[in-house]
Amino acid sequence: MPVPEPARGLRVALLGCGVVGTEVARMLLEQGTDLAARAGAPLELAGIAVRDASRPRDAAIPPALLTEDAESLVDGADIVVEVMGGTEPARALLLRAIEGGAAVVTANKALLAADGPTLYKAADSAGVDIYYEAAVAGAIPIVRPVRESLAGDHVRRVLGIVNGTTNYVLDQMATTGLDLDEAVKQAQDLGYAEADPTADVEGYDAAAKAAILASLAFHTRVSADDVAREGITGVTSADVAWAARTGHAVKLLAIAEQTGEGVSVRVHPALVPLEHPLAGVKGAFNAIFVEADAAGPLMFYGQGAGGRPTASAVLGDVVSAARHRVLGGKGPQESIYAARPLLPADAAVTRYQVRLLVADLPGVLAQVAGVVGDHGVSIDTVRQTGPSEGTAELLLTTHAAREASLAATIAAVRTLEPVREITSVLRVEG
Ligand code: HSE
Repeated sequence: MPVPEPARGLRVALLGCGVVGTEVARMLLEQGTDLAARAGAPLELAGIAVRDASRPRDAAIPPALLTEDAESLVDGADIVVEVMGGTEPARALLLRAIEGGAAVVTANKALLAADGPTLYKAADSAGVDIYYEAAVAGAIPIVRPVRESLAGDHVRRVLGIVNGTTNYVLDQMATTGLDLDEAVKQAQDLGYAEADPTADVEGYDAAAKAAILASLAFHTRVSADDVAREGITGVTSADVAWAARTGHAVKLLAIAEQTGEGVSVRVHPALVPLEHPLAGVKGAFNAIFVEADAAGPLMFYGQGAGGRPTASAVLGDVVSAARHRVLGGKGPQESIYAARPLLPADAAVTRYQVRLLVADLPGVLAQVAGVVGDHGVSIDTVRQTGPSEGTAELLLTTHAAREASLAATIAAVRTLEPVREITSVLRVEG
């Protein structure tokens, strides 16, 4: 009987050696036997491209593997793993890899949400795999379930906490009463938030992930620019305290919905009822709630960031791509056949909770309620506190209405003479 030839090793090029890259390298090197058995061939870490090869690194990184010549590394690879982030040179290197016939695995949400279609088309033309499980919610398997497991279903809605930093910040505000700046500082000290926390706190990171998920869920191309985005910088400790008093948690949500009219994708802070599963997601964890016609509600929960959790998602993709190199076949390509219209932000249907300070005089409540009703918006509950020095605080919750009607209602209420100040407007979701 002929002795089977050992499978040829597959050369894996790693682009980037930060927190995630270090863990990808460590796991590739330490788990070689298991990975080879699962992939069907040994996975050989051919090199690690970095900006500065002389910088001190984790002991797990063999210095001989480091190179500053990313292009040459890419040229000889079977699978290119990109965990460097940023737009360039990541995009150029991934295109070079694809054109050279390598499969690619990337964790680069910002690049995919801005210019994914260029990469998907290139991969399609070259007949190679492009995998990106780690680009959305770190370790949580969500890209593959939405792209493959739910391919036979009809996804209606994706509602998620996809940014761990802001979830940590909001959770700290709720549990310790810190204000936003103090909680962001704490997140920075713990290494969750970057020195420049803009991408997280202004919702850019969540918007990129929302765009990727919406594209997959609705078979429609959605880019980061199509996402209505509002970060958490306007959330005050009073908002968080009021949320708790009314049975809610404040969460930064990514929401992608499909209605008869089209697809709406948005990222904003929202009040989530405490009984909703997303309200219980604490600290830097992520969770994504998917509603599909046949499957019903599904919840995905886990660590959305961090070196090892993100490396887990990267390596799962590497094994999938490797299996295709060994056995043949190809992973899914971009699916945009549905091409649903993208709805403007003000077409979304939501509920508002509004806090306002008003003069504590007879008829003021009726005046406010009248303006709300005139705009076709229905009030669900009203709660009043005070008075203090002639001023009462009203907490008003609406029924669901179009964002455009709700925004016009607030603008009109603001002009009423007895209204001293609108202190907070938060959407209620879930
Ligand atoms: N900064 C992100 C977060 C992780 O806090 O969830 C990377 O997308």
